[in-house]
Amino acid sequence: MAVRKLAPENMQPESFVLSAETEAFAEKEIAKYPPGRQASAVIALLTKAQEQAGGWLPRKAIEAVAARLDMPVIRVMEVATFYTMFNLEPVGKYFIQFCGTTPCVLRGAGDIKKVLERRVGDQNHVTADGTFSWLEVECLGACSNAPMVQINDDYYEDLTTENFEKLLDDLAAGRPVKVGSQIGRNRSEPFEAVNTLQDPALYDGSVVGAWRKRFEEQAKAAETGETAAAMASVPQEAKAAKPTAGRPIESDVADTPAKRAKEGEKPVSTADQKEAADSSKATKVEPKEAGAQPPPQSGKSYVASPKKEGQAVPASPTTPSAGTPPAQAETRRDGSESKPGVVVDKDNKSS
Ligand code: FES
Repeated sequence: MAVRKLAPENMQPESFVLSAETEAFAEKEIAKYPPGRQASAVIALLTKAQEQAGGWLPRKAIEAVAARLDMPVIRVMEVATFYTMFNLEPVGKYFIQFCGTTPCVLRGAGDIKKVLERRVGDQNHVTADGTFSWLEVECLGACSNAPMVQINDDYYEDLTTENFEKLLDDLAAGRPVKVGSQIGRNRSEPFEAVNTLQDPALYDGSVVGAWRKRFEEQAKAAETGETAAAMASVPQEAKAAKPTAGRPIESDVADTPAKRAKEGEKPVSTADQKEAADSSKATKVEPKEAGAQPPPQSGKSYVASPKKEGQAVPASPTTPSAGTPPAQAETRRDGSESKPGVVVDKDNKSS
């Protein structure tokens, strides 16, 4: 996409005032939104201002819309320069948007483009008489009738170089033209012969209404007892799923008066409550002696055995002493020493 910037200063009009029609339109659009949210009408107002200005948005029109909506000009400028439906430079009386996307190209859009280049010139160029200008755009959503162009607000489809040349001639001469398919097909019906959806069964209800037959068969089966037999095979006392079944459930964990009442227990007496609150009767935790080991947390003790004074911690047979480079180690280990019944002597002979 080309850089979208405002038209050069020499193309810009000196002023732009919203017409009475545009003003009435603005009032209607703004009324659609809550008070203070009038900025939501910015696209509608820019579209109307573009229409008033002859198909493009001069700087003054953007400023007029910003003032009408009480918006900073830069905010409106951002919208106008972002959306390609807003033309930032003058366009011809007939502004042609040519679809250059794959389906149209596969159906001959390249030839249509050559006609435009020959008759109108480059993109964004307005013919000397101000009649035509064109712009290549992405898919306009009429691919089944490709190739196509949009001229002002209308689509012209199923183009060939011949019918497109004629279309341009008629527009230039002010003659009436046919909107839509230029080869007479109705909307996007099959291009040549109708060769799909021709099976009469599609229209007599025998395919679409097949569900009816199924219900009839089921009703018949029920009459003959097949359904009853099938029902008999279904276990009547199905096991209920486990109540929790992996789902969190609510439980009364607190000892509350409501819970006690629910379970038929007596409420806690006032005397018991007082006794429980008496800190002098609370269980005392004896202070630990200095150096005492904490008790083991389970049946297995993982507490290290206390060392005798001066006793070195035996090195693990598989752990080399820290700081000893492997090259200076007394013996090198190859793993054989850990094999049962294999002894390695100094000459590296095993027995
Ligand atoms: S590709 Fe041209 S209308 Fe879709």
